[in-house]
Amino acid sequence: MHFKSQLLIIFTICSTIGWSQNYEAKVDSLMNLMTLQEKIGQTVMYSGRWDQTGPIVGTDNGRYIREGNLGAMLNAFTVKGTRDLQKIAVEETRLGIPLLFGYDVIHGHRTIFPINLALSASWDLKMVEESSRIAAEEASAEGLHWTFAPMVDLSREPRWGRISEGAGEDVYLGSQMAKAYIKGFQGDDLSKSNTILACAKHYVAYGAAQAGRDYHTVNMGEGELRNVYLPPFKAAVDAGVETFMSAFNELNGVPTSGNKFTLRDILRDEWKFKGFVVSDYTSINELVPHGFAKDSIDAARIGMNAGVDMDMVGKLYHHFLEDLVKEGKVPEAYVNDACRRILLAKFKLGLFDDPYRYIDQDRENNTKYKDEFLTKAREIAAASSVLLQNKNEALPLSKDIKKIAFIGPLVKDEYDIIGNWAAKGDRNGKAVSIFEGISEYLNPNHILYAKGCEILKDDESGFEEAISISKQADAIVLVMGEGHHMSGEAASRTNLKIPGIQPELIKKIREANPNKKITLVLMNGRPLNLSDEVNLVDAILEIWFPGTMGGAATADLLFGKVNPSGKLTVTFPRNVGQVPIYYNMKNTGRPIPDDNPKEDYKSNYIDVPNTPLFVFGHGLSYTTFNYSDFKLSSQTLNSKGTIEASVTVTNTGSMDGHEIVQLYIHDKVASVTRPIKELKGFQKINLKKGESKTVTFKISVEDLKFYNSKMEYGVEPGEFEIAIAPSSDFRFEHTFKLLD
Ligand code: NOJ
Repeated sequence: MHFKSQLLIIFTICSTIGWSQNYEAKVDSLMNLMTLQEKIGQTVMYSGRWDQTGPIVGTDNGRYIREGNLGAMLNAFTVKGTRDLQKIAVEETRLGIPLLFGYDVIHGHRTIFPINLALSASWDLKMVEESSRIAAEEASAEGLHWTFAPMVDLSREPRWGRISEGAGEDVYLGSQMAKAYIKGFQGDDLSKSNTILACAKHYVAYGAAQAGRDYHTVNMGEGELRNVYLPPFKAAVDAGVETFMSAFNELNGVPTSGNKFTLRDILRDEWKFKGFVVSDYTSINELVPHGFAKDSIDAARIGMNAGVDMDMVGKLYHHFLEDLVKEGKVPEAYVNDACRRILLAKFKLGLFDDPYRYIDQDRENNTKYKDEFLTKAREIAAASSVLLQNKNEALPLSKDIKKIAFIGPLVKDEYDIIGNWAAKGDRNGKAVSIFEGISEYLNPNHILYAKGCEILKDDESGFEEAISISKQADAIVLVMGEGHHMSGEAASRTNLKIPGIQPELIKKIREANPNKKITLVLMNGRPLNLSDEVNLVDAILEIWFPGTMGGAATADLLFGKVNPSGKLTVTFPRNVGQVPIYYNMKNTGRPIPDDNPKEDYKSNYIDVPNTPLFVFGHGLSYTTFNYSDFKLSSQTLNSKGTIEASVTVTNTGSMDGHEIVQLYIHDKVASVTRPIKELKGFQKINLKKGESKTVTFKISVEDLKFYNSKMEYGVEPGEFEIAIAPSSDFRFEHTFKLLD
């Protein structure tokens, strides 16, 4: 039957309400036709078989769709796949409500961009937006309407594997990045067939998991929650994000997928978020092992009452919600609200005008891996890499070097290079390896190659060959790091060293070549402990997992066609014992005195300095930049005004380059202590060699606000320190006063 009746129903709704975009009214009239069971059906999501992103939970999708018990699917895409499923929803159900298809399009769909931690290191909001725009183009061409991205979890925990999915440790930068991703995914008109719903996840404080162990407990005061972990989510709401995902972790004893305080009080009542909230994968079921729900029925009750609108894969809403409503344990109004929000998203996507709008075979065939996408991916990968160290001008490499030895398990890799959460990125042939990349620059007879060892295995049998070719070479490039599965979900580490016997090989190669320039190219998804390597090699180029065009981009950097410009968005510790370590810590009552760093009874370690190995904001270039002529337009700021801070930046080296100019502020005295420095602005500028530019930042009271101990958001008059600097490693020299 149903296709005609569906059209009739939709036609009736649209002609009564008008064909305008009055979606709320259309949703209401549709909901008037729906049974409670059909409304609950909209809150249910199951997984298809195109990918597996969590424990397998068996389902009978076709039957559930037909029965009106399924509103959304994840891990189901491709034109053919989504058409088959959508057809069942549209043509074989009573009301013909279309399905929503979601997937983890995290740093690209087919064309894979660098992992998100790397993307943040570009400090380039335009590029980040472009990357998510391209991801949306490719994903939507395969029938997808919704991505579970961006992950806006701030994290100061390098042990946590998912630090790779976020924008690092900073509140301000993380909030800007959140907005850029959302803009790229959602565009300015969701009804266009190349825009998709974004999802701010994982709400909230997931990145603060105890000891960096995934899914682990989080305890934090409300001040830290509001000042540090919530702002990127608030920024996502302000940017118009359509969906949120509740997280796996508990927060102060209450799991976040059953947390009324964060989901209803903050997200709905304070922030007025209008979109819908999906649980994480079985995170409502997990209220039971958390010890927060006595059984699955109880978990379903808590999840819906707390404000989770859609149950990802858990089967709980499907099986228990109807009875819970009938027994009065879940207000029907909550189910209505959830259903209304989900239907609204479907209306906005235009699925009621044309449920097959995203299903177009020609578009699918012609969209993936377009040349222009690959070109962009190459440019973005180069901008996301960070030159951590460059002693003896080891880089850039000259093409005239007679023989360069490329050594390491990742030189020829096309598999790990695209990183974790790489959606449908091709790991078998499409990605450009470093070896392919350098082959664009060097004649084969200039290249020596040895794998040396594996990433994780203990087998040293390849060392001999590696050492032997290193001795024949004039310069040495090591390509090493983590495997892609060593970061991402459920990939926490307690050891932050380069894994396996790779560090041994580095040592042996240095011993065999005491005077040669050695460059270490690193692929990894988290800050590593490089304390030994900084002394063993000359240059360190952090390329993270750079994506489909990673090898080509890395070669562009190695040979100086592109000048490195990325800067760290996360601190690299000296060792794991310093963790958590981040640039905007508090001063303590016993800070180490500048003039006597060894003074006793101060807040220090006896074995390593307090400082990290590489600070937040650090990143070198092949040129040099000088900062001069700092100016403040006024020494005072009042509550309605603004002041301007400016500095002149000059390219004093011999190459054109980009510089990321950073603005930091310190609130010296407040009713609750404030961090020793806080990033409040940044600009990425391009300077030709010899060129100077004045960089100006505007500061208003909005930039100085924080939550006090009564959880009031505002400013407190007093003295503030201010600096414009190339990284977070500087001393303040200037101040201004905020007047009453
Ligand atoms: C679990 C992950 O935590 C989440 O980020 C992801 O979106 C879902 N699985 C779906 O794959």
